[in-house]
Amino acid sequence: MLLMKDIIDDHHPLIREISQPVKMPICQEDEQLLLDMHEFLVNSQDEEMSEKYHLRPAVGIAAVQVGVLKRMCAIHVLSYDDDGNVSKADDYALVNPKIVSYTEKGSYLKDGEGCLSVNDDVEGLVPRHAKVTVKGYDVLTHKNVTIVARGYLSICLQHELDHFDGKLFYDRINKENPKAPIPNAMVIE
Ligand code: CO
Repeated sequence: MLLMKDIIDDHHPLIREISQPVKMPICQEDEQLLLDMHEFLVNSQDEEMSEKYHLRPAVGIAAVQVGVLKRMCAIHVLSYDDDGNVSKADDYALVNPKIVSYTEKGSYLKDGEGCLSVNDDVEGLVPRHAKVTVKGYDVLTHKNVTIVARGYLSICLQHELDHFDGKLFYDRINKENPKAPIPNAMVIE
């Protein structure tokens, strides 16, 4: 299983490299890595496992973050109802995902973003598209998928896909005024 020691941080030169498309059909080694990345996310959000293995809770991870320059990422986003029960789970292990369309309207997370590869808290608003449509191949279902994502999931996907191009969330923060209001954007709690 993947552990924190397997994850590179933003001082590592690979984090700024461009990831390459995965040749399809996906080989077993790549598929296993992607499944391990997804499992890491599930473990990281499990109280017992995260404590035992000192995992930082995360909702997304890109292959470059474990040092592999391939366009693959995993997502594990749980939504909760008012009673604190899981009401929805968005799980993906994506190969060659690509944004095929997006809204001009923006969105941003109210408290900014974080990243497994960024050890310090970086304050500031990260402008994103409010809605994106992502196409890719999902190894959890062995199907080509079209994901129409809004809200938190949309932001997670855009964050992970940025990693493929060597981009980190703080690159998008306004340098002069990190908390400057972002026009025409929805706030995501
Ligand atoms: Co990240």
